Amino acid sequence: MTSSGGGGQVAKRRRQAPDRPQTTLSTARPSRWAPLDPQVAVLPLRLFLGVTFFVAGVQKLADPNFFRAGVPGSIQSQLHAAVHTAALPGMVRLAEHAPVAFGATIAVAEIAVGLGTVCGLWARVASSGGLCLSLVFFLTVSFGSWPYYYGSDIVFVFAWTPLVLGGPGRYALDDLRGRPAPDAAAMWRPAGVPVPRRMVLSRGAAAAALAGVGVAAAAAAAAVGRARTAGPEAAASGGGSSGAGGSSSVGPPAPGTPIGPASGVPVGGAEAFTDPATGQPAFALQLTAGHFTARSAICTHQGCTVQFSQQDETFVCPCHGSVFDARDGRVLQGPAPSPLPAVRIAEGGDGRLYVDGG
Ligand code: FES
Repeated sequence: MTSSGGGGQVAKRRRQAPDRPQTTLSTARPSRWAPLDPQVAVLPLRLFLGVTFFVAGVQKLADPNFFRAGVPGSIQSQLHAAVHTAALPGMVRLAEHAPVAFGATIAVAEIAVGLGTVCGLWARVASSGGLCLSLVFFLTVSFGSWPYYYGSDIVFVFAWTPLVLGGPGRYALDDLRGRPAPDAAAMWRPAGVPVPRRMVLSRGAAAAALAGVGVAAAAAAAAVGRARTAGPEAAASGGGSSGAGGSSSVGPPAPGTPIGPASGVPVGGAEAFTDPATGQPAFALQLTAGHFTARSAICTHQGCTVQFSQQDETFVCPCHGSVFDARDGRVLQGPAPSPLPAVRIAEGGDGRLYVDGG
């Protein structure tokens, strides 16, 4: 009886519940997981993309090997490798006609995009530029990546999209004057729709100031990068010439095409050269004193140019992380399917290294 009576009261309360005023909702504590304001939530992405593009541009200008043809990692060797896998090989061949200008343009554009994005100045224009650059990289350098998500450029394309569509979020220089931020669409308004003149002038001045900062940073990075390598390069070239001169009377040259002085290859290290037979980058190695070998620098996965790691005597591919043993070229870590091919070299009696053309 008692329980049946209690159940009846509960059922009655339940029936009454919909009629109560819903004051409990307004007094409830907000959820700890309430969604953040999208204008704030986008900031980590904006900072990451801006900093990454700025660093990428500065790094290119600071790397003295970036513009040096025949050196693995240079713009020339990257274009040479990309032409085989690009979705738009014609674009790559066009860039190959002026690789230094192309590489410098890319570096400066990356710095501009990075600064504009971090500071939120002309932010949607900068983001549109970042998206275009990423798209170009995807269609040229990383289009052959498989699975497709191994290539980072496709990820960058979509990472830029929220900033292009939704703007830079809070704490942008575009908002300093309390006006709506200029956007990509504003740059290409239909004729007759005026663009606020003061807005263009003020933001143009700020952009020029920021560009000045970017150019100064790029120049400083380039100067420091070259100064850091000037010492070893001078020593290497000096050693090379003396080595060639000192051994010129030792004996006849080896058959094949000379690629440089043997003394230019440090013991336990590697020196980059262009394989005269293929026109592609390769490495000459002297892992044991007096014993010279050479390997192609073209990764057998997607054709990126590998880097030599003296620390563990390996070649590492920057694209998808393949690792090769420098001694025999075998794959230590995939996804590369096969070893780095050997290039036949020999030391001539004149102290130079020769690639055997036969
Ligand atoms: Fe993919 Fe080298 S190109 S690991």
